[in-house]
Amino acid sequence: MAKTFVIANQKGGIGKTTTATALAGILNRSCKTLFIDADPQGNSTATYQAVIEDQATLYDVMVDAEKIPLAEAVQHMENGDIVASDPLLAKAEKMLDGDVEGLYRLKDAIDDADDYDYIVIDTAPSMNVVLYNCLIAADEVIIPVTADAYSLQGLRQLYDTIKAVQKRQNPALKIAGLLLVKYSGRSNLEKKVRDDLTGIAEEMHTRLFETRIRECVKTKEAQAKKKLLIDYAPKCNTMLDYTAFVEELLG
Ligand SMILES: Nc1ncnc2c1ncn2[C@@H]1O[C@H](COP(=O)(O)OP(=O)(O)OP(=O)(O)O)[C@@H](O)[C@H]1O
Ligand SMILES: [Mg+2]
Repeated sequence: MAKTFVIANQKGGIGKTTTATALAGILNRSCKTLFIDADPQGNSTATYQAVIEDQATLYDVMVDAEKIPLAEAVQHMENGDIVASDPLLAKAEKMLDGDVEGLYRLKDAIDDADDYDYIVIDTAPSMNVVLYNCLIAADEVIIPVTADAYSLQGLRQLYDTIKAVQKRQNPALKIAGLLLVKYSGRSNLEKKVRDDLTGIAEEMHTRLFETRIRECVKTKEAQAKKKLLIDYAPKCNTMLDYTAFVEELLG
């Protein structure tokens, strides 16, 4: 069985996709890794240069009545194996409404895909049935956070959602930790927020990862060029930090 990590935070633009693609890129160097893009925006799908026309996507796997097996939706790209997202995924809420098994679509699909060591799932900045599917299918949640005052808002709601899933649908779900991303370390506010986060992590019965991910312009460049950071700038600060993070994560 693959170990499944989901990257989640319902706040937009916080660094989920950057974290998910970095993690998958690093894991894929030594282990068989599958990326699943569960965000209808499809940012990771674009980075992998995966297609969505005439190709089964996560929508077909999760939402379509035919329930296509996960393996049929996998695209083998230069950046690695990916199940692409589709803007249609935004309709999942409506389509799965009233389906008693609607929360388990992704879990059922993943249970059938046993030839991967790791699965990394990128999620959208929203709390909806797709996110619940991801949390129910996952072994561990990684929560990227930034060191600004607003970043902490919403963590409570995410934690309540994770707790509810742990209580009912996925008791084995673990919060791997809070990961401080886009960190400059220059301002006093950042240092204060970092202290606050240590306390919040404790309340969430998890940890704030020691590793912080520093900013680097190469990150945006890699995204624009549709490259994985590990290929585009393996030695930039952001990439060095993500490498240290993965070591800490796998411990
Ligand atoms: N370490 C970094 N250094 C510089 N820029 C970064 C870094 N991490 C993320 N960014 C930039 O921040 C922006 C948002 O990052 P990203 O797309 O990963 O967030 P997201 O949480 O996935 O957003 P959304 O909620 O829209 O899916 C992007 O422009 C990205 O390039
Ligand atoms: Mg994203």
